[in-house]
Amino acid sequence: MKFFVDTADIVEIRDLAATGLLDGVTTNPSLVAKTGRRFVDLVAEICAVVPGPVSAEVAATDHATMLAEGRRLASIAGNVAVKVPLTPDGLKTCRALSDAGTMVNVTLCFSAVQALMAAKAGATFISPFVGRLDDIGHDGMQLIGDILEIYANYPALQTEVLVASIRHPCHVHAAAKLGAHVGTMPPAVIRQLFKHPLTDKGLDAFLADWAKSGQTILEDQPELRSA
Ligand code: E4P
Repeated sequence: MKFFVDTADIVEIRDLAATGLLDGVTTNPSLVAKTGRRFVDLVAEICAVVPGPVSAEVAATDHATMLAEGRRLASIAGNVAVKVPLTPDGLKTCRALSDAGTMVNVTLCFSAVQALMAAKAGATFISPFVGRLDDIGHDGMQLIGDILEIYANYPALQTEVLVASIRHPCHVHAAAKLGAHVGTMPPAVIRQLFKHPLTDKGLDAFLADWAKSGQTILEDQPELRSA
């Protein structure tokens, strides 16, 4: 499963990109607004840090303006995936951009038939929001299973399922078991994925025992030792 980070914070993006585990970035208008940055400059900077797909969302709701905005965003860098909402105008825009060779992420998906329509419109990614469904008492992960099952019935569909609105590592675990193509996660959730109390406990014990041995692996290269 590909790991995308769901943030517009360039400091977080740089930090996570350094792990070598980051396959892409998703942003949305709320995340961009929080940064106070000029959108096109921010997208350019993110695209230079992360070579994988970087989702940048249109702000218009009518097809003509969405298409113009989508083309402007796509002109920023070759790895921009234009994000459009799952509306009739959004899917019309998806088709036009996709036919022109631009990656498109169709966002705000809450049903499997919506996902089927996005795939028919040539979406590169479909973004079902699992956390927001859980919030209203539905089963977000059930939707992921349904979409994957429907897409598997039609092998000609190339759309990747990008699990969005992930709130915790259990969502990542469940999405990976279902075979979702991508998960986009807030930075804090990516960091949580590294954690296990037995990893910390085991490491502490190994380090304590190693210290007792009095040895150092870099005995011939002291300049390479951490401070
Ligand atoms: C995805 O592209 C969205 O930006 C995001 O996952 C929404 O998450 P939220 O429901 O936590 O705002």
